[in-house]
Amino acid sequence: MLLLFFFIFFHFLLNQIDSCPLTDAYLSRCHCGILTNGESYIKCDEKSLNEIPKFKRSFPYDELILSNNNIKLLTSSSFDNIKTIKRINLYGNFLSYIDEDLLRLLGNYLEELILTGDNEINSLEFLTRYPLKKLRILKLNQFNLQNINLEKIFSNMTKLEQISLQTCQIQQIPQLNQVQILNLENNFLTNSLFLSTIYSSLNLANNQITSIILQNNPNLISLNLSKNFLQEFYSLTISNKNLQTLDLSFNQLSSIDLTILNDNLTYLNLSSNQIQQLKFLSYPKSLLSLDLNSNQLKTLENNSLYEQLNYLNLDSNPLECNCHLKWLTNLTRKPLWPCTSSNFQCQSMLIPRIITFNITYIKTSIDNGLLIEWTLIDNYHTLFYVELSIDHMLEKLSINQTRVYITNNIQFNQYYYICLILIHKYSRDKYCRDIQTIHPIIMNNIKFNDNEIIFKKTQTDNHIYLLLIGICIGGLLTFILLLTCCYLFYQIRIYRNSNSQPVYEKCSQHLHYPIYHCPHHQIIYNSENLSNSTDSTHMDNATLSTTKNNSKHIYQTIDNQDYHSLRKQHYQVFELWNESLKHKR
Ligand SMILES: *[C@@H]1O[C@H](CO)[C@@H](O)[C@H](O)[C@H]1NC(C)=O
Ligand SMILES: *[C@@H]1O[C@H](CO)[C@@H](O)[C@H](O)[C@H]1NC(C)=O
Ligand SMILES: *[C@@H]1O[C@H](CO)[C@@H](O)[C@H](O)[C@H]1NC(C)=O
Ligand SMILES: *[C@@H]1O[C@H](CO)[C@@H](O)[C@H](O)[C@H]1NC(C)=O
Ligand SMILES: *[C@@H]1O[C@H](CO)[C@@H](O)[C@H](O)[C@H]1NC(C)=O
Ligand SMILES: *[C@@H]1O[C@H](CO)[C@@H](O)[C@H](O)[C@H]1NC(C)=O
Ligand SMILES: *[C@@H]1O[C@H](CO)[C@@H](O)[C@H](O)[C@H]1NC(C)=O
Ligand SMILES: *[C@@H]1O[C@H](CO)[C@@H](O)[C@H](O)[C@H]1NC(C)=O
Repeated sequence: MLLLFFFIFFHFLLNQIDSCPLTDAYLSRCHCGILTNGESYIKCDEKSLNEIPKFKRSFPYDELILSNNNIKLLTSSSFDNIKTIKRINLYGNFLSYIDEDLLRLLGNYLEELILTGDNEINSLEFLTRYPLKKLRILKLNQFNLQNINLEKIFSNMTKLEQISLQTCQIQQIPQLNQVQILNLENNFLTNSLFLSTIYSSLNLANNQITSIILQNNPNLISLNLSKNFLQEFYSLTISNKNLQTLDLSFNQLSSIDLTILNDNLTYLNLSSNQIQQLKFLSYPKSLLSLDLNSNQLKTLENNSLYEQLNYLNLDSNPLECNCHLKWLTNLTRKPLWPCTSSNFQCQSMLIPRIITFNITYIKTSIDNGLLIEWTLIDNYHTLFYVELSIDHMLEKLSINQTRVYITNNIQFNQYYYICLILIHKYSRDKYCRDIQTIHPIIMNNIKFNDNEIIFKKTQTDNHIYLLLIGICIGGLLTFILLLTCCYLFYQIRIYRNSNSQPVYEKCSQHLHYPIYHCPHHQIIYNSENLSNSTDSTHMDNATLSTTKNNSKHIYQTIDNQDYHSLRKQHYQVFELWNESLKHKR
């Protein structure tokens, strides 16, 4: 009896599925089915349809799947025979026309509508013409919604929960009150955004946002900012406290401060940015997944944050796999690890460190001060410099320095906190000591180099500066005086020259160059003459080497001449000289 009942029931079901409400022309390309949850659907093969199939009779199907076909037009009667349909999927059809009356019979049932346009459709009248009382999910791709007031369009659809408007040329984020999930991927959102919304999920991926400040998004759980041009991200923790998923991948962030992220955050994707350093005083206590793939990280400092994560991706970073990253291998759940263990050189000798660090309160013949002495080891020369900090003052020291004397500011019976900070290639190490200044040790015959004394008496400094300034002014005056003398001397010479015969200078026979200075009886020697001459050692090597390889002799004399006429001719002489060089070559 029971068996019979089941048989009848299944027969009924099969019949229902067999009897697709489609005309014969479509039966080979489409099929009807029923899901385990009892929902029935009509699905047509992809790339097989040019139009909405013809439905024979009205039938209570739940879903119509016509995605990725070649349907272009939606007329007012397209869905006339399936007016109880709940979901229509026309994704990937590049619609060019949608009749305004398309949904005139569907308003009481339609819950989900998915349409892809041809980037031209710029009216959503078909959505507003008749009330869509049940519509929960609307996905429009490739519409032109640039000039559409979306708030107004959706104001009457009180059931609407999820809207996806991908590639719709939208320039601003609409505030759609009833909507929880908004997808605005690949639109025209640009520049800086101050984000205050009521959405719980917001996808702004693939836009051109350059900076974003999360102001007040009390419901926001998931935010996707992937593939923008973000250089700046900021969040006001308290007013975004539900944020759990944050995707900042493929942006231009060069740093991020995890301190600004709320405690509920579990997923943070920072892959493909320019991050050089992770800065944080605190970090989200729920964070489990941190993707830092493809950034500019060179090193990471050990932090309990990394112990908490169950996913950490550091691939494609220029990590310097050395001792300072060794802690990473001790993480219980292994990160995606770009350094192989062979990359480590972890002898303790590698790290520069302070061996002794003594501070003594001493009294010299002049005053009281603190003598700080230390020895350090830097076997692999990775130390850049050493810093000395005392009472919030920082003094940079060279790595060779091993003692410092601090005077003047040191007071009696007081505590000083002094630190030596080793700045090396990958990190810094700090060594600190306390001292109380009582009972100075008398050390009269102690000597210091200048670079060993810091915080000297400011008065002596002033004296030195005054002295230096005095010297400078004196020098300047002397220089001006000299200039004046030279000028006067020159004037006198000119005056004398114009009233007397030129005075010829005596020139060395061995000077072949420059001719300019030796107007009379100037001789241009070739190499052999040079090497014979006793004075040849005075010649510079370059001249010698250019002339030595020569076999031709060029010998030329210039007659004794009036100085002034030669001055006019000296260009000619140079030409001769050049000629001679050419001959040599
Ligand atoms: C919303 O509904 C009201 C009242 O039914 C109507 O006057 C108004 O035109 C509707 N708005 C839109 C955008 O359809
Ligand atoms: C964010 O959007 C991008 C682009 O569509 C997508 O690949 C990524 O999976 C999304 N991120 C999250 C966390 O969903
Ligand atoms: C985390 O989210 C819950 C609600 O989901 C909220 O009540 C709580 O205040 C948030 N915690 C923090 C630390 O923001
Ligand atoms: C982070 O984003 C990139 C790019 O969108 C993606 O490939 C990667 O899978 C994401 N990481 C995680 C942990 O989801
Ligand atoms: C890294 O830091 C954590 C927490 O501060 C600590 O428990 C752990 O021992 C450190 N790991 C190494 C290798 O120093
Ligand atoms: C790291 O792991 C090694 C062996 O796996 C162990 O010897 C070492 O003590 C660990 N170091 C820390 C700081 O946990
Ligand atoms: C520091 O003090 C110790 C003990 O008094 C002494 O052995 C050591 O030589 C001192 N080091 C320096 C650099 O003065
Ligand atoms: C330190 O001393 C070494 C040799 O003693 C020398 O080669 C180096 O140039 C010195 N460095 C500085 C910064 O003075």
